[in-house]
Amino acid sequence: MTLIYAHRGASKHAPENTYASFKLAQIKNADGIETDIQLTKDGVPVVIHDATLDRTTTKQGAIKEVTFAELTNLQNGQWFDPSFEKETLMSLDELLDWWQTTELYLNIELKSHSFHHKKIVKETMRRIDQIDDVSRLTISSFNLNYLEEVKAWNPIMVTGYLTKKRLSNRVLKRMQGVVDGIHLHYKAYTTVFYRCLQSHGFYLHLYTVNEAYLFNQYVSENVDGIITDDVDLMG
Ligand code: G3P
Ligand code: CA
Repeated sequence: MTLIYAHRGASKHAPENTYASFKLAQIKNADGIETDIQLTKDGVPVVIHDATLDRTTTKQGAIKEVTFAELTNLQNGQWFDPSFEKETLMSLDELLDWWQTTELYLNIELKSHSFHHKKIVKETMRRIDQIDDVSRLTISSFNLNYLEEVKAWNPIMVTGYLTKKRLSNRVLKRMQGVVDGIHLHYKAYTTVFYRCLQSHGFYLHLYTVNEAYLFNQYVSENVDGIITDDVDLMG
């Protein structure tokens, strides 16, 4: 069975990484949601894709330069459509509180940022430690060091390595024990590589699949997960 994850929530129909987009993903019967984490100046994990506030909020500047208190009630839905003006930037705590009331899977992507290398895993995992059941949770990152730290923190935490390229057998062998699955850019997908991953014991999630014919192809090939902006592709 292929799990369908709404990328940054149902981000084709609602502003990404907001309560509205996560709630819509749930309403549209996605299996899970994907989201991005950045840290504020004072080390609070917040739910936003970019390293700056510029594109999606009504404020400007780097997130690492502002404290969490400065982000209180910051609008981040208006850019998408004025009807979402009530959406505000969420903290990871707020997202986790809501998510625990749902049956959704949750994929938290740790964004790589040299300023916060030493803190992002710690601050995220400290919050995840408050959760009783982490079986519907996955931590992904393009940064393999983060995933190593996650596994060291909690060996049962599911980890997914994000990559735009297929990986060699040698690299895959090195990742065993650190990484549970590969989150691969869909353009790098081949059936042969999928079989190779399976032979190494890795699951495969493909991102970000927004074309119906590709979505249907990957479902028919039974990949383990698809991350999409458009959960309506589920039909
Ligand atoms: O998790 C897959 C995908 O979200 C990675 O790319 O830039 O959309 O976070 P990006
Ligand atoms: Ca992401």
